[in-house]
This record gives sequence, C-alpha cells and structure tokens, in this order.
Amino acid sequence: MTLSWRTISTDGFDEFKIELPRVPVIPHIRAMTPADIPAGMRLKEIAGWNQTSEDWVRFLEFSPDGCFLAECENRVAGTATTIIYENRFAWIGMILVDPEFRRRGIGRALLEKAVAHLEAEAVPCIKLDATPAGKILYQRLGFEAEYEIERWVLKRDTGNARPVQRPSQDPGAALAMDREIFGADRTALLRSIAGTAPELLVLAPQDKGLAGYAFGRSGSLADHLGPWIARDAVAARQLLADFLERSQRDTIFVDVLTNNSWARALLNQRGFEFSRPLTRMHRGANIYPGQPDLVCAILGPEFG
Ligand SMILES: CC(C)(COP(=O)(O)OP(=O)(O)OC[C@H]1O[C@@H](n2cnc3c(N)ncnc32)[C@H](O)[C@@H]1OP(=O)(O)O)[C@@H](O)C(=O)NCCC(=O)NCCS
Repeated sequence: MTLSWRTISTDGFDEFKIELPRVPVIPHIRAMTPADIPAGMRLKEIAGWNQTSEDWVRFLEFSPDGCFLAECENRVAGTATTIIYENRFAWIGMILVDPEFRRRGIGRALLEKAVAHLEAEAVPCIKLDATPAGKILYQRLGFEAEYEIERWVLKRDTGNARPVQRPSQDPGAALAMDREIFGADRTALLRSIAGTAPELLVLAPQDKGLAGYAFGRSGSLADHLGPWIARDAVAARQLLADFLERSQRDTIFVDVLTNNSWARALLNQRGFEFSRPLTRMHRGANIYPGQPDLVCAILGPEFG
C-alpha cells in the first residue's frame, strides 16, 4: 500500500509517497474445483496471460487434487497448479496472486502447498518456468535455474488471408519423439491440445520418422506455438512457416530457448519481437532433462 500526501510550498505543491510495509496474512488454501475456473480466469486476465477456460479444465482433469486456491477475506486471492509427468518430474504453474494481496506471503504459501502436495506424491523433481517476479520467490524455496527462455510475440495483419484447409494429422509419431525430448510422457496433454486445435499441429516427416513437430493452442490473446521441436534448421524453418500459414490470428506467442541454435534468428526473420524473459528452474535432481538442444520452443510456462 502506498501512502501519499501533498504539502503547499511557495512554488506550488510538493508530493510525498511512502511504501507502507505489507502486513503478512495467512490465507486459507484449498483444492481448486471446476466451479473456481472463473476466479482463476479473473486472476490470469489481471496478469495479462493467454490461458483459456479449457486450459484450467486441463489442469483440473490432469491433476484433480493438485490445483490450489488461496482465499483471504472471503475473496479468491491466488492460484497454483501442478501436473505430474510419469513420476519423473512434476510441473508447477499458474502461481498468480491478486495485485491487491501481493507481498503478503500468499505466493509463498501457495508454492509451499504445491511443493508439499508433490512431495507427498514422492515426485523426485519439481520444475517450473519463472517470470522475473516469480523467480525471487522460487529461489527462496530452493529452485535452481536450468536455462533461459524468452517470450517472443508476432503482431501481424491477417486481414485478407484465407484459411488454409489442411487434412488433420495424427500426432502419434510426434508423441513418441516428444517423450525423449521433453524427458517424460505427456501424451494425454498433447492429445488434448491437438484435439482442440488440430489445424495447428504441424509435422516435418523425414525418412520413416520425423525431423520435427509443432503443436499450437488458441489462447485468449493469441495463438501459442509450442512445443516447436526440430532436429535441424531446415525442419525448424518449415514448421514455423507452416504454423504461421495455418494460424488465422493477428497475434502469435512463442516461448523459445535462448540457447537453441536457430529459433530466435528464424523468429526475427518472420517479424517476431522479444517480449519478456523466463527462467526454467528445478528443485530436486534433474534426472530426466530430456534433450533441450532440439527444443526451439516449449509448450508453455504453465505446462513445461
Ligand atoms: C510472483 C507473485 C506470485 C508473488 O506473489 P506474492 O504473494 O506477492 O509473494 P509473497 O508475498 O509470498 O512473497 C514471497 C517472497 O518473494 C519476495 N517478493 C515477492 N514479490 C517481490 C517483488 N516484487 N520484489 C522483491 N521481492 C518480492 C517477498 O519478499 C517474499 O520473500 P520472503 O518470503 O523471504 O519475505 C505475484 O507477484 C504475482 O502474481 N505476479 C504476477 C504473476 C507471476 O509473475 N507469477 C509467477 C509465475 S512464475
């Protein structure tokens, strides 16, 4: 809370501001249910994030006991989600606190609840993708940086573009490859994503397998490209071009690994611009790191 006041002086007003210390609160934390999705949507809209109600449904379907809500003064003050991938590692996402309740310990309480839930499930490693605001909180709870990611955004005019009709593809070959590259099986999640946006699934065939693949989601603000996986620059370029033809949106989001050899140069060529940094972090031994060198872009900070 900021206390501000003005005093009258000979040449007008002087304005003073003092940042008052925030009083910590002990929130009531409970499991989130489908009835809480509108409250989750409200918080993610305040934060300017891209998730939809379908994404909250996914969190609750894949982790019915592992999504949490913080209540303060009879109001929803924050959220946290978890997903366990094959008991190899788990993901924490959607750590969101209402700006009116920030800096009072609610983010920390939600994170501690999510970590305690995953430890009770004996998950050996917990991962997440941190915003700069979240990173401070995660470091204090023992999360370590693994690598850097950047959100890039394309703004374009699709005014006269006609929808490209393509036969929908079976994601099967991509799912087998994805387990090796992500480090754990996330078939159900990727099938759910391909099911809601089949037109945004792109495959790059090579011999009897794949040189790469890309999935996409339609968010509330933009189409989101990811995961975008490629064995070489040719496949990476082709997948990006195909995706941009298939999407009908004026705005595209993508979260690229900064140490990928091609991704940022390809995005630059297509008119994307840097938006904000993210840091992939883990807590516990990172035994299944996957193959990040083949990852141009992640699925999204909320899912990994
Ligand atoms: C990041 C966020 C969840 C933090 O929630 P919060 O309730 O304000 O965090 P807390 O009050 O529990 O603070 C936890 C710790 O982080 C520190 N911290 C939190 N925000 C901070 C800030 N802006 N600057 C410096 N330190 C900060 C606090 O001092 C506290 O440390 P302490 O426990 O050692 O005192 C909240 O700012 C938010 O919703 N941001 C927008 C969405 C977002 O970026 N989420 C993170 C996704 S990875």
